[in-house]
Amino acid sequence: MPTVRDVRTSEEPITMLTAYDAPTAAIVDDAGVDVILVGDSVGNTTLGHETTLPVTVDDMARHVGAVSSATDEALVVADMPFLSFGVDERESLENAGRMLKQEGAEAVKLECGPHTVELTETMVQLGIPVMAHLGLTPQHVNQYGGFPRQGTDEESANRILELATAHDEAGAFSLVLEHVPSNLAARVTEAIDIPTIGIGAGPHCDGQVLVFHDAVGLSEWSPSFSRAFGDVRSEMESAVADYASAVEDGSFPAEAHSYEEADLEDIY
Ligand code: KIV
Repeated sequence: MPTVRDVRTSEEPITMLTAYDAPTAAIVDDAGVDVILVGDSVGNTTLGHETTLPVTVDDMARHVGAVSSATDEALVVADMPFLSFGVDERESLENAGRMLKQEGAEAVKLECGPHTVELTETMVQLGIPVMAHLGLTPQHVNQYGGFPRQGTDEESANRILELATAHDEAGAFSLVLEHVPSNLAARVTEAIDIPTIGIGAGPHCDGQVLVFHDAVGLSEWSPSFSRAFGDVRSEMESAVADYASAVEDGSFPAEAHSYEEADLEDIY
């Protein structure tokens, strides 16, 4: 089973996918993916929200518990939702601690900024491994006015580099870099000791992460930096349509799907 230590020192490209429920986690785990991120993207992919902002600690706890229960090998990382960390230290620690103590996660992910450097240090000292996340941090959607690429000028690129270094020094075991230019991702990867895991950050990171629904072709829309490695949406659409027509034309259930009780023969 990969541990945070294995991820931190991995010489191989690190594979990470999101999952939000037990059957999906089992598929991802059986495929040998190193890390399962229970992302707050559960808000968009599963709970029907436009953004991740409405996702609560209780939502995350429920999904982290489901994923942990079905995962034998992969490292399970719980994403901390909007305002569940960084406001009050005690509350941040209790929320993150809950994911490890009660729900079976082995680490948490924080969307980072200057406000998470000290918090990362405290969490790590207390035994809560932290995966940092910089670049596009979707919990800042209202500040960005959308989901634009980050680190595109010298000043903002330097800010990302500085924050990456600060979180490395604070003890984070890895860093997600989202939607940044690949040359910036290469520079950050070279500058810090912990592995970078990219999403929309080019090929120079130490690993890659995608949202499960995008990777398997289930999403209705996915970002241009993503790639669908399957067409699960079409498969599901065709299975559902076939089911409805089989019920309508009477071909389902057939004899093979039914059971007659011999003891009832004289009665009915
Ligand atoms: O919530 C999420 O799924 C994420 C990944 C896209 C990195 O933060």
